[in-house]
This record gives sequence, C-alpha cells and structure tokens, in this order.
Amino acid sequence: MTSLEQSISRGGQGDGIRLRPVSDAIGAEVLDVDLAAVDDALFDKIHAAWMDHCVLLFRNQENMSDEALVSFSRRVGTLDQAPPNENGKRFVDGFPEILVISNVVENGVALGSLGAGESVWHTDMNYIEEPPTASLLWGMEVPETGGNTGFLNMYKALEDLPADLRARIEGRQIKHDNSTNSAGYLREGAVEVTDVTTCPGAVHPIIRTHPVTGRQALYLGRRRNAYVVGLPVEESEELLDALWAHTEQEKYYWHHKWQVGDVLMWDNRCAMHRRDPFDASARRIMHRTQIKGTKPV
Ligand code: SIN
Repeated sequence: MTSLEQSISRGGQGDGIRLRPVSDAIGAEVLDVDLAAVDDALFDKIHAAWMDHCVLLFRNQENMSDEALVSFSRRVGTLDQAPPNENGKRFVDGFPEILVISNVVENGVALGSLGAGESVWHTDMNYIEEPPTASLLWGMEVPETGGNTGFLNMYKALEDLPADLRARIEGRQIKHDNSTNSAGYLREGAVEVTDVTTCPGAVHPIIRTHPVTGRQALYLGRRRNAYVVGLPVEESEELLDALWAHTEQEKYYWHHKWQVGDVLMWDNRCAMHRRDPFDASARRIMHRTQIKGTKPV
C-alpha cells in the first residue's frame, strides 16, 4: 500500500477495502472492486467509505453494463425513473432507470442530455420536494480533454462558514427554481422566471442534516433564480452571492478527469457537482442512475 492509500476496516484488521483519497477536499478512489460482482459484505464497506468521502471513484470497470449499473445502484436505494431530457424523451430501451448524458447526435437524434457545454454547480433535482439521495455515472466514451466532473464538499463549506454568515442562514430556507437544467436549458413546459419570489420550486433548509452521518451540510442547490424565503429580493441576492463565493473556493472541490470504464458515485446530501465544457466534435457518452431521496431536514 502506498502512503496515499489507506485501508478502512470495519470489523477487523485486513477486513476493509483499499481506498486512495483523490484530493484534500472530497472523494476517494476504491481500488480493486468489480462493481458487477459486489456482495452484501462488500457493499457495506463501500457504503461506509462513501459516507466518509461523499464521492467514490471506481476505475477500470471492464464488466460494467446497463444491467450491472442498475443492479449495483439498487443496493444504494430505490431507483428513480430517468427524468425526461430537454426533448421530453427517455433513453435506454429496457432500462427506464438509466439517463444518458451525452453530446452525441446520431441520425439527427440526440443520444442524451446536457450537450457539450458547461454544466454549472448544482445538486441533482434540488427543485423537487424529495431530491435524489445519490447518482452514479458510468463513463462509456470520454473526450481526450475537457468534460471533467467536479465535486464540492458541502460539509466543509458549512464548517468553515464565517460566523456572521452562518448566523444569517440559521433556520432559513431557499426556494429552488425548477425552470432550467444545469446546462441552462429551459425544461419542457417551463417559463422564463421573472420573479424569484413567486416562481415554482421546492423550499428546503439552507443547512441540512445528513440522515446517515448526522453531519450538517450547506444545501444551496443551484444559484440561478434561487431565493432566500422571507427576505427582500436584494438582500436574498446579496446573501446568496456571499454563500456561493465562499462555497466555490478551490479548497472545497475536486475535478475528476475521466477514463473509459470509470464509475462515480456521489451523495447529493453533502456534495454539489458541475461539469467542464468540452469540444463538441468529441464524443462523450455516460449512463447515469439516480437514487430516490427524502425531504431534506
Ligand atoms: C450531471 O450533472 O449529472 C452530469 C455530470 C457530467 O456530465 O459529468
């Protein structure tokens, strides 16, 4: 084991899985695990590591398939059906749980969502009452450069929040606008927001408690059209800008450079994510599952 690697052991020496931290901020790589062949005991260790690190990376998943992705994801929790993309479509025949994230267009039909542009910092489906707990993303085709996926540690962002800023958000809630996705596309049937105080979207506490770890994390969702309930709009904008400026600091994030066969698993209750843009002529195809969540408290 190198000095960077660590073994977590739950239930005895040598009984753990091997982990390699990927940054000081968030995330760990799980070494030597085939996600297509995980049993209950191994899953418990993976889950424990996930609770410690918020995001797990599994490389070289040669046996990965849509079936294996769905099967492993079911161990994490009940799966959501894939949300419709900006064309109102779902994607993988026989696997209604799989959402395709891709810029590839074949015979005039987009294979997936989000194109090749930037996907801004967000938490998945923060705009619904019970946002998903987790998401898993499998890299099937990835570009040489760009298209990296970043993660922000929202436990750390809250822990370090200056006391005056923290005092201003204690007990407060954000209304999470549902009109656009993270790539800026207006969702099917949505209208442009003209008033953040009245636009539709779920209301969640700004500080939430993780139901498994018991730790508190900042829950910002996404910046566009967010509104701190009960404040004049100008004050809400100023407070949100201050929170985002604090949260988007490099010391809280890690960006993953993809290789084919990588799988990432992130916890939406304590991590936000984003994606770098990439060359639109390159191919990027990812399959994703999403685990149902509960109302943030
Ligand atoms: C997402 O926001 O879920 C997509 C992330 C990515 O394409 O890397």
